[in-house]
This record gives sequence, structure tokens and C-alpha cells, in this order.
Amino acid sequence: MRIKYLYQQLISHISVIVVAFLVVSIASTHFVEKVVLTIKGQELYDYGINILTDIQGNQMQSSAQDTLLNYADVLKSRGVTFGIFDTQQNVIASVGKRINITDEEWNAIKDGENNKVIKSSTRRGNQEVTLVAIPYSVNGEVAGGILLTAPLSDSKQLINEINKYLVYSVFIAFGVALLLSVILSRIHVRRIKKLQEATSLVAVGDYSVRVHSSNFDEIGELASDFNSMVDRLRVSKEEIDALENRRRQFMSDVSHELKTPLTTISGVIEGLNNNMIPEAEKGKGITLVSQETKRLIRLVNENLDYDKIRSNQIVLMKESIQLAEVLEIIQEQLYTQAIEKGLAINVDVADNVYIYADYDRLIQIIMNITKNSIQFTDAGEIWLKGRADDGFTIIEIEDTGIGMDPAEIENIWKRFYKADISRTNNPYGEFGLGLSIVKQLVQFHHGTIEVSSQKGTGTNFTIYFPIEHK
Ligand SMILES: Nc1ncnc2c1ncn2[C@@H]1O[C@H](COP(=O)(O)OP(=O)(O)OP(=O)(O)O)[C@@H](O)[C@H]1O
Ligand SMILES: [Mg+2]
Repeated sequence: MRIKYLYQQLISHISVIVVAFLVVSIASTHFVEKVVLTIKGQELYDYGINILTDIQGNQMQSSAQDTLLNYADVLKSRGVTFGIFDTQQNVIASVGKRINITDEEWNAIKDGENNKVIKSSTRRGNQEVTLVAIPYSVNGEVAGGILLTAPLSDSKQLINEINKYLVYSVFIAFGVALLLSVILSRIHVRRIKKLQEATSLVAVGDYSVRVHSSNFDEIGELASDFNSMVDRLRVSKEEIDALENRRRQFMSDVSHELKTPLTTISGVIEGLNNNMIPEAEKGKGITLVSQETKRLIRLVNENLDYDKIRSNQIVLMKESIQLAEVLEIIQEQLYTQAIEKGLAINVDVADNVYIYADYDRLIQIIMNITKNSIQFTDAGEIWLKGRADDGFTIIEIEDTGIGMDPAEIENIWKRFYKADISRTNNPYGEFGLGLSIVKQLVQFHHGTIEVSSQKGTGTNFTIYFPIEHK
């Protein structure tokens, strides 16, 4: 069964209101009745005391009737009947209908603790009345009493009148309460509805939704939690999308890089198989296959290496290394490559410059950058410089090569990025992986790397490694 939240709220509010009004009405009706009757009794009692005081001021029995007559007019108009009686319960004077005192009442005023009887409601003759009986004394002895009655119908009329107003006010209050309940319930429902609509939007993948939040109440807090949940979902979604894009890009890049060597290898093998390659060329073909296979192995290894560094899977064995030694090794190892292109590699570093790094990884970093310099320099020279400055060991690799424009510089750290596509079929590889690995390695050493370059003039890579911190 489905009951709208608005109705649930209304039903619960109405039940509470109805119960509250029932309790209040019943209680106040009783209270009003009690108060009215008590006041009536008190009023009769006051009359009685006044009459008795007057009578006792005179000679009791002779003037009683006269005294009573003084009160008669006033009391009659109020429907009050009263009489004086003696110790034998004989009425010796009365105004209005003659009334007798019962034995029980006489005993109560004679011997009772309070020496009086006040009955808010009792039956006398054929009507209900309020009755008051008070004794009087002569020379310290109870000599009789006064009995006053007033018909209850007058009081009942008053009570009904008061109750009528009570009912009016209950209905007005009920109406106002109901109106407030409707307004409040609607406000609640609207706030919940907004959250529900926002949730539906999120469910279909819209993470831009926002709901109004506040610290005012639980719904406000729920809204603020909802907003932060959506924020987190959006961030995760963006991360997932970025990852997916990277994965797709990577797959397409790798496939692309695999295509050329595999095509070459397949072509040569096919040629050999079908004896299409002249005997004299066979050696060349096999060298080509070997070269391309090495290229493939390098592609795989460098990718694996990149991922290992990226996911913190390598361990650096850092030590203090004399920089001059490292730069000279690079110079020596790349000597042939440089000479082939007519380039000179110069080293400029003081013997007392030390660098705190993993030896093999440091060689890998500088080797990658220097190889690039050889690759992208057709004439001129390459400088490998080292110095220590302000808590850092600084390495600079400078060339007088083709240089890069700012747009190219921005991209060089990306995997598979090559600024000049026409150079890609180079025997040394050029997958566009070198600098991306360099960047990861430098960061892994808590260092930074910067590049400045000018198209046609040359390029300078500067690496900052923090000196060993104890
Ligand atoms: N010294 C340089 N002078 C001019 N361009 C450079 C220089 N170093 C790098 N580049 C540009 O940055 C690109 C990326 O360099 P990176 O070393 O990452 O890749 P690669 O050398 O092309 O291939 P790989 O290093 O995988 O063999 C290069 O393709 C080149 O366009
Ligand atoms: Mg390179």
C-alpha cells in the first residue's frame, strides 16, 4: 500500500491534535463545572454568614423573620431559598419555598469538624440544588442554623455558556493547527521531493546536481551529505574516465609502435621464406629483423619500466656519487654515436660535486637526455654540466640542435609523444618513451626537471636533485 508522505504527516498531526483537544476539552469541562459550583457554594455561604451576623446582632427569635425579609428581595431574584431552623430542626423562619434540613446535614453542622455543610449538587424536592447549611450559637451553644439552597439549573446554564465558548475556541484552534500542519507538511514534502529528484538525476549519471543544504535540521544535513557524495562521485567518475582515456590512448599508441617493426620482421621473413631476397641481401635482412626485434624488446621493457616506476614498484639504492665520474661515463659511452653525427660531447663539472642518487637510474636519466640531444642535433656540440647550489646538485644537458617551440615543450613528458613524426623511423627507437621515464625517475628522487628550448637554436635540460638529507 502506498500512502503519500504528505498524508502520513497530516494523519499523524491530526491524530495528535484530536487527542490533545479531547483531553483538554474533557479536563476543562470538568474544571469549569467544578469551579462554577464551588463559587456558587461559596456565594451561598457568604450570604448565610451575612444573614447570621445580622440576626445575631438583634434579639434572635423575635426579629429573625424581619431580618430575613431584608435579604428576601435580593436573594429571591437570584433564585436563592433559605430558612432558619432551631435545634429541633424546626424551621422558624424562611424565605421562598420552605426547606427542611435532613438529620444527616444537621448532625454534620452540629458535630462536624467544619461546622458547616456545603454541597455543590444535591437533590432537594424535585430539583437539583446547591446547598449550604451553617450553624449559629447563643451563649456559646449551637442554637440552630441557616440553610440556603440555589437551583442548579442557573449554574448549569452558566457552565453550558462557558462550554460553548470552549467548543468555539477548540474549533478555531483545530482549524489553525490543521492549516499549520498542512503548510509545514508541504514544506517538508517539498524538501524531500527536491532530494528525490536530485537522486534520480544522479542515478542517471548527472553529477552536476546540487541541493540546498543547511545546518538547520537533519534534512539540511542530509542535503549537505548528498552534495559531498555527488562531489565524490563526480571526482571518481572523472578519474575513471581519465583512466579509461589513458588506457585507450596507450593501447592505440602501443599498437601503432608495434605495427612498424612487426611489418618489417614479417616482410623480411616472408622474403627469406619465398627466396625472394637475393643471397647478397639476406645478411642485411637478418640484421634488420634482429634490429627490429631489439626495438620491440626495448618497447616492452621501457613500458614495463615506466609502469613500475609509476606504481612505486622500484627501489632506489641511493648513494653519494661523484658527478664528474657519471658524466664522463656518459661522454665515453655515447662517443661513437656523437662522432658519427659529427658532434662533440663536452663535460664541465668540478671534482667535488656529488649527487645523491641511485647510480643505475641516474645513468639512465642522463643517458636518455643526452641521446635525445645527439638525435636532435645535426651540427654543433653537446655540453654536460654539473654544479652544486643551494641544497641541490644541478645537472645541465645542453645542445645546439633543432630545438622545440613552446607547444612541443608542453608535451614532451607524455608517453609516446614525438614532436617530429618524420624522424620516427630512426634506428635508435624513438617511441617517445624516453622523457616520460626520465620525468618519473627524477620525481622518484624528489628532484625536478626543467627544459628551455628555442626552435633552431638548441635545448637545455636542467635537473635539480636535492643533496643528501640526513
Ligand atoms: N634535445 C632535444 N631537442 C629537440 N627536441 C627534443 C629534444 N629532446 C626531446 N625532444 C623532443 O621530445 C620528444 C620526446 O622525447 P623522448 O625522449 O621522450 O622520445 P624519443 O626520443 O622520441 O623516443 P625514445 O626516447 O623513446 O627513443 C622527441 O621525440 C623530440 O621531438
Ligand atoms: Mg629519447
